[in-house]
Amino acid sequence: MRKIAVPIMRPQLASLVKVNEYLSQTYSNGIFTNNGPLIRKLEENYAKYFEVDPELVVCSSSATIALEGATSLSEASHFHCPAYTFPASALAVLRAGKSLSFHDIDLESFQMKLEEIPNNSDHGLMYVLPFGASAINVNLYSFKSVVIDAAASIGNKSLNIKDLPHSWVVVFSLHATKVLGIGEGGISIFGNKKAADTYRAWINFGFSGTRNSDYSGTNGKLSEISASFGLAALDLVEIEFEEWQRSRDLTNKLEDSLKLNSFSRKLSGHNPYWIVNLKSNEEKIETTEKLTNAEIQYRDWWSKGCHKMAAFRSFTEGMEFPITDMVANQTLGLPFFRGMSEEQAEAIHECLS
Ligand SMILES: Cc1ncc(COP(=O)(O)O)c(C=O)c1O
Repeated sequence: MRKIAVPIMRPQLASLVKVNEYLSQTYSNGIFTNNGPLIRKLEENYAKYFEVDPELVVCSSSATIALEGATSLSEASHFHCPAYTFPASALAVLRAGKSLSFHDIDLESFQMKLEEIPNNSDHGLMYVLPFGASAINVNLYSFKSVVIDAAASIGNKSLNIKDLPHSWVVVFSLHATKVLGIGEGGISIFGNKKAADTYRAWINFGFSGTRNSDYSGTNGKLSEISASFGLAALDLVEIEFEEWQRSRDLTNKLEDSLKLNSFSRKLSGHNPYWIVNLKSNEEKIETTEKLTNAEIQYRDWWSKGCHKMAAFRSFTEGMEFPITDMVANQTLGLPFFRGMSEEQAEAIHECLS
C-alpha cells in the first residue's frame, strides 16, 4: 500500500481574494503602517469579537513583543512563569528586564500552580493558558499584576475577557500556525484604557503624541499589510471554525477507535493542536518510532520544558519540576490542521493501531 506522508501542520491564511479587498484599500489609502485605518478597523472588529471596548484592544507585530510590553509596563518587578510553556513567555520577562522564577504545573490543566506564589504587588504572574485553553484557576483573581499568555486561545470564545480585572492583560498570537493566523502578529486586551494607551505608545518607540520618546519603548507595530490579512481572516471566521471542527471530528474519531485520550479534546472552542496523553515515556518512544517509519510527523511543541533550556538554566539550577517532566515525557503532538483528509486520518489510524 502507498505510504501517505502526513505533515504536523499545514498553515493556511485567508483567501487571497478576500485579503485583496483590504490590501487594495491600503494601496489607495497610501498608508502602510503607523496605526492606519485598517489597524483601527481590525482592533474594532476584534473588540466586537471579544465583546470589549475597542479602546482596550491593541494589535502588535507578535504575541512575544506584546508579552514583553505587558511585563515591561507592569508595576511588578518579578514575574512567575510556568516551566511548561513556549519559551516566548519567559523570554518576554527577561527582555523586559524583570526577574523571573519558574514553577511546576498542575497535571490536569497544565497550568502553573499558584499555591507557592507570593501575592504582593511586586510579584507579577505570566499565566499561560496552554494550547488553546480558556479555563482560569479562580484563585488567580486574587492576584493583581497578571499577564495572561493566551497565545493559542483566540478560537476559544469561552475565555471570558469581558470583565477583565483592571490591572490584567490578555495576549493572543496571530502567528501563521494559530487559529485566525495572519503570518506574524499579536493582540492584547487590557483591563483599563490608560494601560492600553501606554502600551500603544510603548510599541511606537514610547511616542505619545510627539516625536519624543517619553519612556523606553520599541517598534512593535502591526502593519496595514498584516491588518489586511487579519480583517480577511475575521470576516471568514465562521468558515474557518467549521474547518477546524471538521479536523477535530476526525481526530476525535481516531481517539475513540485507538483508545487514545488527548489534552486537546477536553478544551472548548478551536485550537490548532492535537496533543495526546500516552501512558509512559516508553509508550511515547514506541509511538514516535512507528510514526517516523510511517512518515507521519509529530512534535513536542514545548520541547522538554523551559527548565531544560540553556537560556533559563540559571533560574532553574537545582530545582525540580516533576509534573512538567511527566507531561513533557508522556504527551505528543500529532498532525492537526484544517483540511486534514480522511486518507491522512486513516494513515494515522493504520500506523497507531
Ligand atoms: C504559549 C505561547 N506564548 C507565546 C507564543 C509566541 O507567539 P508569537 O509567535 O506570536 O510571538 C507562542 C507561540 O506559539 C506560544 O505558544
